[in-house]
Amino acid sequence: MSPQSQAAQADFSAPQACVAKSQAAQTADADLQAALGRERDLIARIAELERRHELQISELNHRLLNGLQSIASLLSSQSRLATPEAATQLMVAVSRIVAFGQVNRQLHLLDHQDRVEFSGYLARLCAELSTLLLWQQPSGAIKIEAEPLEMPTATAIPLSYIVNELVTNSVKYGAGNITIRLQAVSPTRYSLSVLDQGPGLPAGFDLCGKKGLGMRIVQSLVTQIAGELQVSSGGDGGGACFAVGFSLPRVEAC
Ligand SMILES: Nc1ncnc2c1ncn2[C@@H]1O[C@H](COP(=O)(O)OP(=O)(O)OP(=O)(O)O)[C@@H](O)[C@H]1O
Ligand SMILES: [Mg+2]
Repeated sequence: MSPQSQAAQADFSAPQACVAKSQAAQTADADLQAALGRERDLIARIAELERRHELQISELNHRLLNGLQSIASLLSSQSRLATPEAATQLMVAVSRIVAFGQVNRQLHLLDHQDRVEFSGYLARLCAELSTLLLWQQPSGAIKIEAEPLEMPTATAIPLSYIVNELVTNSVKYGAGNITIRLQAVSPTRYSLSVLDQGPGLPAGFDLCGKKGLGMRIVQSLVTQIAGELQVSSGGDGGGACFAVGFSLPRVEAC
């Protein structure tokens, strides 16, 4: 083909190519709009599912707390018909159930948070525990010595359950004031301890030996946060001291 006829053919086919191109662009645009529409629908469905899921969790929590409350009331009524010794045991069980419910209620407030300021949270939790556990011992109080400390909720939740178990033990076996101390031992290492002014740990107490459910719960939670548990007895206050050492990643300043 001569160069002239090639140019003529190119000129002749240019409008057709333009039409084809614009049709292809329109199809691509329509496909894109359809895909965007599907994506919007999916996002709306996910949001709706999340909303329903949250509602179900709130409902379940509400039912759990109501169930715990009913069990506590039932045991409390039963304690009125029991021998004094059995009544005391039943009331210990009642305060444990109620304390568990209260810890859960406080924890539920953390559901949508990745991080929590733990000293403030600890103060609220201990105010609840104090009302529940110390009503029979008006002479004792729970004191908190803690600087503000932000931490991931995933660490705060196990620490809260640990505090619950250790404070319950101090009320059961200790005496006087209970101190909860949260302190930094290095820029990334922290210690949370619970101390009381009771008679201290029984002779031969061994963390690795036979223990109750409470200490087993504490040890498994300490493992969960990759921490370590130390016990000592007969310190300044004379009572027992349980200290949990744990690490937190250093938070970079913005
Ligand atoms: N603050 C404390 N002062 C003195 N002894 C303690 C203290 N905390 C724990 N102990 C001793 O450690 C033992 C084990 O504690 P643990 O919490 O495992 O069991 P428990 O409180 O007896 O029963 P549970 O927690 O299963 O209801 C207790 O029986 C008690 O002898
Ligand atoms: Mg216990």
